Amino acid sequence: MISPYDISMPVPKAELHLHIEGTLEPELAFALAARNGVELPYADTDALREAYRFQDLQSFLNLYYELMAVLRTERDFEDLADAYLARAAAQGVRHVEIFFDPQAHIARGVGMDTVVEGLWRALGRSRETHGVSTRLIMCFLRDESAGSALATLDAAKPYLDRITGVGLDSAEVGHPPAKFREVYEAAAALGLRRVAHAGEEGPPEYITEALDVLGVERIDHGLRCVEDPALVERLVRERVPLTLCPLSNVRLRTVDVLAGHPLPAMLDAGLMCTVNSDDPAYFGGYAGDNFDAVRDVLGLGAERLRELARNSFLASFLEDEEELRARYLSEVEAYDFG
Ligand code: ADE
Ligand code: ZN
Repeated sequence: MISPYDISMPVPKAELHLHIEGTLEPELAFALAARNGVELPYADTDALREAYRFQDLQSFLNLYYELMAVLRTERDFEDLADAYLARAAAQGVRHVEIFFDPQAHIARGVGMDTVVEGLWRALGRSRETHGVSTRLIMCFLRDESAGSALATLDAAKPYLDRITGVGLDSAEVGHPPAKFREVYEAAAALGLRRVAHAGEEGPPEYITEALDVLGVERIDHGLRCVEDPALVERLVRERVPLTLCPLSNVRLRTVDVLAGHPLPAMLDAGLMCTVNSDDPAYFGGYAGDNFDAVRDVLGLGAERLRELARNSFLASFLEDEEELRARYLSEVEAYDFG
């Protein structure tokens, strides 16, 4: 049987917006629940999938945090990452910068050591097993306090050889980037790269604040920049990468329908867009599925798709492996879209 994952667009690409906890497929959730003796409040995988009807970001986050209960051991995090990497590789992902949410695990009694060691078991051998290079980005939950973010950065200090950067995620509205100025300054002083979700549900001002106050190098989502022409002009001028997630935007109702997604207009405006999957187990597709969707529904042609793939490597945190970036970029230029 051909799985839908075998046929999605395999143009070489980097995935720059991917929450590892959002790759928890219902089948794996039930397998881990059984292994760990955790009771899930759903009869089976079909009943769980029925719950994947989201009104907004918060209604998704409620389920996302609930299902994390099945992730308890290093092996669980290893299995989760291995399953994602296999699926991503089958869709042409050559490089991935993976977000994880330590506060959501520490709050359940699962320590930073378990999470990082477990993920690293899969990430550390990913180039050999999956042909995918990886980076790890630790996210702070913006609906938790600034003090909690600082404590989380402190807990990560023994693992900084494995963590490339910090990010900011969870419920956006009411939690502006400036709340996290101090922890981003501390992260920068430790040599960590900086990104943040902004302009997913929150206003364009949050994008400006993430750039000016947190010093981020990429904006995750950034969709609502289109409401502010001066901001668009700035993002174009400064070549700030945006990690867009089209299928996520539809599922979380940030856009009404995919056909109305502003991606084509954003590319026409000269924005440095990339296409990513966000939480693929919940939003109906991995990276290649998102590329398929923007080709099929938004009518993006080969050169626009090549631009998206090229941007993904240009925006990657590969400064310590420029030869690898150059190899990936030459694969993109050589790719035949047929
Ligand atoms: N955490 C996981 N997915 C997220 C998203 N799309 N926005 C904010 N926080 C998240
Ligand atoms: Zn996200």
